[in-house]
Amino acid sequence: MKFFIDTADLDEIREAASWGCLDGVTTNPSLFAKTGGKLEDFEPHMVKICEICEGLPVSAESTAMTTEEMIAEGKRLAGLAPNIVVKLPICAESLAATRALAAEGVRVNMTLVFGVPQAILAARAGARYISPFVGRFDDIGEDGIEQLANVVQAVHNYSYGYWDEEGGPEIISASIRTPNHVTQAALMGADIATVPMAALKKCLFHPLTKAGLESFEADWKKVTGK
Ligand code: E4P
Repeated sequence: MKFFIDTADLDEIREAASWGCLDGVTTNPSLFAKTGGKLEDFEPHMVKICEICEGLPVSAESTAMTTEEMIAEGKRLAGLAPNIVVKLPICAESLAATRALAAEGVRVNMTLVFGVPQAILAARAGARYISPFVGRFDDIGEDGIEQLANVVQAVHNYSYGYWDEEGGPEIISASIRTPNHVTQAALMGADIATVPMAALKKCLFHPLTKAGLESFEADWKKVTGK
């Protein structure tokens, strides 16, 4: 399973990239708003992320409402850098926009997906990535991991004719909040997990790793006498 970082914070992206295991970045309007950036900063900010993560997919979300606007904004965003992926929220307009953008070789990440029917529609329209949300489903008392597993199985059951040569459509486990979400996503065969920095750090930490390191250091001091 690949790791994406779910943030628009440049320092977090640089730090995650320095770990050597980063495969991509996802952003959304809320994550960009958190950076304090204004409208005129949005596209330059996306370009900076693409430069930090050269060659890795970087999702930039369109806020357009109509199919025509989504296509136009999608093409503009895709023109910012070769590694831009246009993120669209699932709806009738975005399905039509995805079909048009895919026909021109523009990769779409279909977001705000909450179940198999939406995911299959996204795949049929030509989405390169599909993002089912786990945490937000849990938030309303549903089982986000179960619906993610259903989406992974249903989408992987078929071939869609778009992005075959790249292994798409890939499922991005989104709205990931905990290391256990990451574990479950990997066990079920999800292609990608997009994880915020705080959860990524929790994935790296284990109390037994910390305790083991401390005891190795203490014992090595006995060996070196320092
Ligand atoms: C997906 O790409 C979204 O940006 C993200 O995973 C949403 O996560 P949240 O539900 O924690 O806001």
